[in-house]
Amino acid sequence: MLSEQFLQELKLRNDIEGVISSYVPVKRRGRNLVCLCPFHNEKSPSFTVYPDNQSFYCFGCGTGGDVITFIRRVENLEYIEAVKLLADRAGLAMPEDGYDDRAARMKSRVLEANRETARFYFSCLMSPMGKQALEYLRGRGLSDATIRRFGLGFAPDSWDMTLRHLTQKGFTREELAAACIAVQSSKDKTRYFDQFRGRVMFPIIDIRGNVIAFGGRIMGEGGPKYLNSPDTPVFKKSRNLFALNLAKATKENVLILAEGYMDVIALHQGGFGNAVATLGTSLTSEQARLISQYANTVVIAYDSDGAGQAATKRAINIFGEIGLKVKVLSMTGAKDPDEYIKKYGSQRFKLLIDGSDSAMNFEIEKIRSQYDLDTAEGKVAYLKDFVAFMAGISSEIERDVYISRTAEEMRVEKSTLLLQVDHAIRQRTRSAEKKQARDLSTFAVDKKDRSDPERSRNIRAALAEERLIAILFKNPDYRDYLLSRISPEEFITAFNRQVFSCLCDRLEENESLDMIALSAVFDQAQMGRISGIIAAADGQNFTRDEAEDYIKVIKDQAKQKTPQELAQMNDQELKQYIAGLAGKKPKATL
Ligand code: UTP
Ligand code: MN
Repeated sequence: MLSEQFLQELKLRNDIEGVISSYVPVKRRGRNLVCLCPFHNEKSPSFTVYPDNQSFYCFGCGTGGDVITFIRRVENLEYIEAVKLLADRAGLAMPEDGYDDRAARMKSRVLEANRETARFYFSCLMSPMGKQALEYLRGRGLSDATIRRFGLGFAPDSWDMTLRHLTQKGFTREELAAACIAVQSSKDKTRYFDQFRGRVMFPIIDIRGNVIAFGGRIMGEGGPKYLNSPDTPVFKKSRNLFALNLAKATKENVLILAEGYMDVIALHQGGFGNAVATLGTSLTSEQARLISQYANTVVIAYDSDGAGQAATKRAINIFGEIGLKVKVLSMTGAKDPDEYIKKYGSQRFKLLIDGSDSAMNFEIEKIRSQYDLDTAEGKVAYLKDFVAFMAGISSEIERDVYISRTAEEMRVEKSTLLLQVDHAIRQRTRSAEKKQARDLSTFAVDKKDRSDPERSRNIRAALAEERLIAILFKNPDYRDYLLSRISPEEFITAFNRQVFSCLCDRLEENESLDMIALSAVFDQAQMGRISGIIAAADGQNFTRDEAEDYIKVIKDQAKQKTPQELAQMNDQELKQYIAGLAGKKPKATL
């Protein structure tokens, strides 16, 4: 258990506002900050940061907590690892005994194994054994400096050479299997063999410089062309980008997104150090958000084939949701950036980037190509589609530019088009608002119901309990008074009872009710609920009279019996019970 003092220091040095805003762009709203929730997809912000009590809460998905909970969620870390990350971030030393968590240890062993493996693959590439691989890479136009810069390597064509090297270095087979460097044989569980054999290796390195995974390309025929590490304790392919570690160092506010490892490497070698790629999957919103942390514009440079164009369309949508500016490169005469640069040189590629059309042109061109504009029907149908598309564009200036241009090209009145677009926008907002209201209410209720059916059965009392908890958070000095009026045992719902008594106990021990202290006690889902309770009372002050009202609601509910209990009562009990509800003392003679 970490000391209160350490956690306080950690909190002071990791202001929640600063930490969260390094992951997502936040906007000030009064005393608080809001942004689009990084944990679920939404179009208007319901994620709120409360600097006052150093907590956050999303009214959309119910995620919430303190700065540690946030890091756990966003980085997918165990409690102690999140603490360690924050301590590192603030230059704070971890207390000696706080860091012996097993999962955390396994992760750090896997990272060490990965690093050693990357070194080993590189040395194999440079040894006689890697002659063919090195020739392959050079043959594809890579300079030795580029090979070194990306730490490319060669996985020996052997069943267990990598495995033997790493066990000699002190790694266990379990550690290597966890890293997916070795695979356990399904026939004979005592046997392990190398995951990558006879392939050119591309290490995948995260923004902190850790080797987190590998991609391996076959040199000759056969499949798969690329073999990638599956997800491991240190790697999630949907959350990482190839070469982001290098691209981020260029400090450009534009990133180029390509499809493949080789495209990225060719781009870097050609002077475009800001290129990245997804890892053998199509773009995820997590990756798009990652990109938005480093750039405000992204140039999509996917393959020019049909699959690449379809992927471009999907990517435009994902970036659009996040609010990143998107440009689309259109290449002719080559299937991908690697081939283009090889064929036409990097200067010409630069021209391509400078002239790269905005995503809008790409989309409009796509729409237009579906219609025969020589016929009146075709024109009308195209304009209808165009209006619908424009209605989805949030920037008024951009809309104006494209509406003007299209009006001119199609020889129609601009004002007519504008009117139609406005109309479509109004319709859209109405239905979007309705939908969000619907989603929000069902979502919030759903989540709470699932985690606590007891709460929804006793909703009146539960809400009163939650108010009392909020009151205690705001006025810890009310503790003795509240306890004199109601004991935790009288709480109806188990979770609120647990929270209330935990808070009272902490105060008794002179411990703070800091969110950062609570996240050591409660799990992530519970932290979300506690943050929700606090968020619902944001900006309100409570008097003792109000506290009394809530206490009464809880006590009344306690007095109420279920239908089953009522059925079991005898007449005498029933009369007493009813009289009690009415607030009258039952007469002894009845
Ligand atoms: P491509 O087939 O376009 O490969 O796949 P490439 O990068 O142009 O490769 P070269 O030029 O033939 O060497 C694009 C990306 O899709 C993933 C890889 O990340 C690859 O870089 N991929 C492709 C796989 O993961 N597995 C495969 O079998 C093929
Ligand atoms: Mn290629």
